[in-house]
Amino acid sequence: MSQHPAPTVAGASRPVRTIALLNQKGGVGKTTTTVNLAAALAQAGRPTLLVDLDPQAHATLHLGADAGDADADAPRATVYDVLLDPATPPESVLKEIRPNLWVLPAETDLAAAETELSGEPDRNLRLRKFLDALGDRFEFVLMDCPPSLGLLTLNALGAAREVFIPMQAHFLALQGVSKLLETVSLVSRSVNPRLRVTGIVLCMHDTSTTHSREVVNDLAQFFEQARASGQEVPHRTARILQPPIRRNIKLAECPSFGQTIFDYAPGCPGAADYRALAERVIADWDALLQRRAAGEPGGTLGGTPPHPQVVVREAPRAATADHAA
Ligand SMILES: Nc1ncnc2c1ncn2[C@@H]1O[C@H](COP(=O)(O)OP(=O)(O)OP(=O)(O)O)[C@@H](O)[C@H]1O
Ligand SMILES: [Mg+2]
Repeated sequence: MSQHPAPTVAGASRPVRTIALLNQKGGVGKTTTTVNLAAALAQAGRPTLLVDLDPQAHATLHLGADAGDADADAPRATVYDVLLDPATPPESVLKEIRPNLWVLPAETDLAAAETELSGEPDRNLRLRKFLDALGDRFEFVLMDCPPSLGLLTLNALGAAREVFIPMQAHFLALQGVSKLLETVSLVSRSVNPRLRVTGIVLCMHDTSTTHSREVVNDLAQFFEQARASGQEVPHRTARILQPPIRRNIKLAECPSFGQTIFDYAPGCPGAADYRALAERVIADWDALLQRRAAGEPGGTLGGTPPHPQVVVREAPRAATADHAA
């Protein structure tokens, strides 16, 4: 397997879809979604880069791309080096870990970047500079964020066009999402006006409980209201992405083997869900590019209507994310 990204094919310039997977709440499925969605996109033939922005380095470990892996016979640069110097040569830091799937890995030293960069005026735009210099080498760039809203997350939001919010359908998680959307609004005003919240990825989902159905419908209503209000907020075209990712023990097992779900158990429900999510993500993207190429209006990813599987329940509860943002 080559250690360097393939050069861009001359004349085959395509836009790049840069997505931050973000939720300040811990353990909601950010890393699981980043890794397995990236792997599914790569398997579908789309050149994909996963950026690990979490000092826990869980995505790096999940992909078996940590410094202790078999072919790492020399010290390798990580995302820490990129944040300190965005001119870091890509070939020293990017690693092809599966066909079409590249990783910009993290190590625990990444935590130091927060303080080391604190006095730098461009500290939130370091990753963006590095990614901009890659041009269209990758079609998808997925960034796994830590469960906090510090400099590392701000670098993801500075570099991204889109935010996917992995979350579980619990009532308290709704409150967190409301705060998160406020933060994204603030960041979009100060750091990155082009930032949009594309939607929610429901993780560890159980469709059989009334509670999760209520939360899903509250969320759907909240986004419907944001759309109808016409407010200029980054989540004005957000929706619940389909399908929800069911709870599946195989998804919890595969990280310890340094494998994606497609390596570990390609026939399990978790693999089917992430494959289906990737198909929807690709279909939306290809449709958007076609609309743009045809010069048609509706040139945003959120321009597509919410998925018909989302059924708004008849009697909404009072205290919901309707009060968010
Ligand atoms: N659909 C699922 N079914 C079963 N287990 C899951 C599923 N999704 C994630 N998990 C497990 O839940 C735990 C938390 O998931 P994950 O590490 O992806 O969350 P996270 O949001 O990245 O956490 P952190 O905030 O610590 O970075 C992990 O043990 C993971 O394997
Ligand atoms: Mg994580």
